[in-house]
Amino acid sequence: MKVKTICCIGAGYVGGPTMSVIAQKCPDIKVIVVDINQDRIDAWNHEDLSQIPVYEPGLDRVVAEARGRNLFFSTDVNSSIQEADMVFISVNTPTKTYGEGKGMAADLKWVELCARQIAEASKSDKIVVEKSTLPVRTAQAVKDILHNTGNGLKFQILSNPEFLAEGTAIPDLDNPDRVLIGGDDTPEGKEAIQALVDVYANWVPREKILTTNVWSSELSKLTANAFLAQRVSSINAISELCEATGANVEEVAKAIGTDSRIGPKFLKASVGFGGSCFQKDILNMVYISRSYQLNEVADYWEQVIKMNDHQKVRFAKKIIKNLYNTVSGKKIAFLGWAFKKDTNDTRESAAIYVADFLLSERANICVYDPKVPKEKVYADLDYLNTRFPEENRQLVQVATDPYEACKDAHAVAILTEWDEFKILDWGQIYELMLKPANVFDGRNILDGAEMNQLGFRFQAIGKSY
Ligand code: NAD
Ligand code: UDX
Repeated sequence: MKVKTICCIGAGYVGGPTMSVIAQKCPDIKVIVVDINQDRIDAWNHEDLSQIPVYEPGLDRVVAEARGRNLFFSTDVNSSIQEADMVFISVNTPTKTYGEGKGMAADLKWVELCARQIAEASKSDKIVVEKSTLPVRTAQAVKDILHNTGNGLKFQILSNPEFLAEGTAIPDLDNPDRVLIGGDDTPEGKEAIQALVDVYANWVPREKILTTNVWSSELSKLTANAFLAQRVSSINAISELCEATGANVEEVAKAIGTDSRIGPKFLKASVGFGGSCFQKDILNMVYISRSYQLNEVADYWEQVIKMNDHQKVRFAKKIIKNLYNTVSGKKIAFLGWAFKKDTNDTRESAAIYVADFLLSERANICVYDPKVPKEKVYADLDYLNTRFPEENRQLVQVATDPYEACKDAHAVAILTEWDEFKILDWGQIYELMLKPANVFDGRNILDGAEMNQLGFRFQAIGKSY
């Protein structure tokens, strides 16, 4: 079977870029990305490409090439499902905030709604592809809903998790390490797998397209994120040991990373990992393990999250300690709010939690981030519910210029590794700040020796100066 029309439900950080690239690489396939959020769809359709809702280097060019040709963004979910022979589910699957599994399990409410809507809207057989990250065995529930409510139509369920990282989504999609497709080991299942393989084979070498059973595919996605996050927590644990002993975490990372069995990637010590995936997916895995009474497995992975929480608190405490044990009424400039560079996404960003800790100590914070708007900073803090929204607005300012953020500050904290922070005029910043001028580099992007020479009191992660 050859796919002619794809519908993707969910025009977010995954659905938007992934479908844009599929449309770009497969001009013969019509791709319709749908969402219930009208503002989001309007933004995807905005004439000015700087207004599309996801900031990713290179994405504007891909959208410019395909949009209106074979790539469409729409809120008309039902008719788009009807038109498609393949429907991707790429909706959000956040950690549950209520009821059984609160704070641990994935909330599958939106996935179930999608399954029901696909069943209701369909007038012909379809291949349904799970693109969202889902707990292992979710496909069973999707299948059950489709088969029980789908007017006797035939649905094949595939799992095709996405491995792109934000900030590098376009190169990751252009040239993925692998594409993973899980499906049933039946003639119909194999045919569905082949249909999706053929889509990717338009640009991905065949040997990089892995096919598995559905459960392996679902679990591989959770496992990949757990392993990656574990590396960050491991190097962050070592960073604390480095600070205590005088070792340098970058030297240690290099020394171990040159062992080909360990490898050099994902060994950057930091203020802590953020993003919408790592914490959510590990918590989900911990929850699933506990539900099978695998308590040692659950405890093992939970420690990755505990270490990450510790790293964020440790960073905040280091700031307080170095400001004579009080930050009350003191201005602290935050350079960066996004969870990593080259994205406007702030979900689970370490900056939010470090800010929250310092605000509880009555600090005044001034944030500068090149891509995150003021409303987002306030929304992130309000969401925590630690204090009244008015207090967040009193204690936190958002600057549109890094020098303005640093003016009269007691300390500058670097929370995101934006390249532009490396080339700021740090001499000028020193002049603008109160003395002693403290800089806490939560991303190890600055040269400590140079910073000390400029007069700063400089602290980084896992190294002493
Ligand atoms: P997102 O919140 O950016 O986007 C989800 C979109 O789905 C939203 O725009 C929402 O309005 C829409 N939506 C929800 N229910 C809907 C419905 N019933 N009908 C139509 N639209 C609906 O989320 P995201 O970051 O794109 O993540 C989506 C999934 O992909 C998650 O499961 C996530 O774990 C996974 N994932 C994310 C990343 C990442 O880097 N963000 C990477 C790999 C996998
Ligand atoms: C991650 C996975 O990498 C990706 O495969 C999956 O599809 C989604 O989740 P993402 O969260 O977008 O991607 O970014 P990633 O580059 O993995 O970074 C996650 C967090 O870890 C960021 O806060 C980043 O700053 C931090 N990090 C990463 C480190 O602190 N040190 C590192 O060495 C690497």
